[in-house]
Amino acid sequence: MKLNELLNIKYPIIQGGMANIASGEFAAAVSNAGGLGLIGAGGMDVETLKEHIHICKQKTKNPFGVNIMLMNPQAKQMAQLLIDEKVPIVTTGAGNPGTYIQAWKEAGMIVLPVVPSVALAKRVEKAGADGVIVEGCEAGGHIGELTTMALVPQVVESVSIPVIVAGGIASGKQLLAAYALGGCGVQVGTILLASEECPIHPNYKEAILKAKDVSTVVTGRIAGTPVRIIKNKMAKEYVKKEKAGTDLMELEKYTLGSLKRAVLEGDVDTGSLMAGQVAGMIHEIKPVKQIFEELMNECHQAYDQLVI
Ligand SMILES: Cc1cc2nc3c(=O)[nH]c(=O)nc-3n(C[C@H](O)[C@H](O)[C@H](O)COP(=O)(O)O)c2cc1C
Repeated sequence: MKLNELLNIKYPIIQGGMANIASGEFAAAVSNAGGLGLIGAGGMDVETLKEHIHICKQKTKNPFGVNIMLMNPQAKQMAQLLIDEKVPIVTTGAGNPGTYIQAWKEAGMIVLPVVPSVALAKRVEKAGADGVIVEGCEAGGHIGELTTMALVPQVVESVSIPVIVAGGIASGKQLLAAYALGGCGVQVGTILLASEECPIHPNYKEAILKAKDVSTVVTGRIAGTPVRIIKNKMAKEYVKKEKAGTDLMELEKYTLGSLKRAVLEGDVDTGSLMAGQVAGMIHEIKPVKQIFEELMNECHQAYDQLVI
């Protein structure tokens, strides 16, 4: 099954739900450009999410979805809100959405949990998920342990539902590789941070453009909440706090607060600039539509030039 057919969209590309970034307006812009736009509900409360859903519905007639971070204290209410608002597609992050899947399926929704392991992929398949978004630790934001290259084929062998590849996709060659690994399409995050429509501060975009291959670092490994961000003063401070044994919840709050500082105020020193390892490949800010068209064209070219 092709991802664009499953979701009724033009391109086989999902925009990852990015907390504090992926607004209703941004999700609508992505859906209008032919991908699947997702509202990132991670940093929202239920009322705010409802407003963003309404904005998204006003601005696009194309399919869109919501990403729920399961550690959000209002995740349960949000799960119900998506049913009430007839949101067609839901993705979930940071945990097992098993308890919500039956109700979502009864409401006719497409359910795509993000998974960092074979075990969770199998569990959500059993619970009725329509597909899994398999995310490797090259990705920006909260990550697991395994790389896309190692993890995706192992999940593909272990489940019968469609597998969507996330983590490390910023070129047509990488999109082609996602298909070669057994994926039916991709989810991208970092490459869309450098889009014209992405509502992050220009300083954040500039930091992505300046990034090199080795510019990202993972914070939170000790606390058990690994997050990939661009190396800066904040990253160093976080690691120091971590080593000093700071409480897990406090560290999580520290990260969320600092992401907002980066996104809204453009604070590239003490803000948390979440981004994936592919940041080093991104050199220009472009409209989302152009990013998608280039990814697709390069993918076909790379396929034609493949020598085995
Ligand atoms: C700034 C940023 C914030 C993110 N926030 C979330 C989130 O709230 N929920 C989620 O499921 N994934 C989140 N992610 C992961 C993306 O949805 C996506 O899976 C990932 O970016 C794909 O890898 P890439 O960064 O290499 O493209 C985030 C990624 C970035 C870059």
